[in-house]
Amino acid sequence: PMERTLAIIKPDAVATRQVGAILQRIELAGFTLRGIRLVNLSRHDAEGFYAVHRTKPFFDSLVTFMSSGPAVVLVLEASDAIRKWRALMGATDPAKAEAGSIRRDFGSSIEHNATHGSDAVDTAVFEVDYFFSDLEYGDSVEG
Ligand code: CMP
Repeated sequence: PMERTLAIIKPDAVATRQVGAILQRIELAGFTLRGIRLVNLSRHDAEGFYAVHRTKPFFDSLVTFMSSGPAVVLVLEASDAIRKWRALMGATDPAKAEAGSIRRDFGSSIEHNATHGSDAVDTAVFEVDYFFSDLEYGDSVEG
């Protein structure tokens, strides 16, 4: 069965012009793109998206970073998409991410780590719905 996950190419990777390279890795890995948009998150938008982290010591810095410039939000589809996208990204901290992973190759710190991915089915539903309507990501049409 096909699964969908929410991916974000974060402001650090957009600013350093790595969107194309990251999209190429996503397509080469076999994901189907179901949604794609450039967004400029307000602090309020970023706080809502990362609400689960609001008590963490890094929350304020994370929100500041995520609202610092444009980001690209994506809906990726594949069998086992959530796990597969997390594997392609590598560990949260680029310094600990596997060789050849996106965060290892494009990230520069645990905060400036190039990409985000949903971590479970319930968070994927919340995160896809946070940015996309059914009309945009295809649930409203057949096939
Ligand atoms: P992401 O997958 O987008 O989910 C939450 C983000 O918080 C995470 O990637 C990191 O970029 C960021 N972050 C900053 N500091 C930390 C930290 N100490 N531990 C985990 N995540 C952190």
